[in-house]
Amino acid sequence: MKTVEWRGKPVWILRRTPDMLASLKKTDAQVADAKSERNPAEFTPEYCMNEYRSIKPEYLVAIGICTHLGCSPSTKFAPGPQSSLPDDWQGGFLCPCHGSTFDLAGRVFKNKPAPDNLPVPRHMYMGEGKLVIGKDEKGEA
Ligand code: FES
Repeated sequence: MKTVEWRGKPVWILRRTPDMLASLKKTDAQVADAKSERNPAEFTPEYCMNEYRSIKPEYLVAIGICTHLGCSPSTKFAPGPQSSLPDDWQGGFLCPCHGSTFDLAGRVFKNKPAPDNLPVPRHMYMGEGKLVIGKDEKGEA
C-alpha cells in the first residue's frame, strides 16, 4: 500500500489481489453500509458506489482517517484470527483508538464506534498509470 498526502490528509492507494477482492463478498453482510449509501456526497463519489468502492476494482483509493474521532487505522491485511480481531477476519484495517474495523474496501463493520466508511476522495485516472487525487470529471474537489 502506498500513502500520499492530499490537503494534509493521508490517502491510501491499495492494490488489491484477487483474493482481497474476493474477501469483499464475505464481508458484505458484516459491514454497516455495504453499498456506501450513507452521505455519499461526503464519503463515496458516485463512480465508486459499487462493490469495490473504486473506479478500477484492483485499486482502493481512500483517506486513511477513521470516521470516529480521526485516528489513523492500521493495516491488518493478513486474514485469520489475531489479537483484537474476529476469528473470521478477512483482512482490512483496525483503528486502535476504539476498535473500529474496516474491510479492504474501507467499509466499516457493524456495531463499531466509527459511523461511516473511510472516505473515498474524488479522483480520476489520466491515461494508464496516472492517478489524480482531488479532481474528477466534474472538476476540483
Ligand atoms: S478514532 Fe477510530 S475507532 Fe475511535
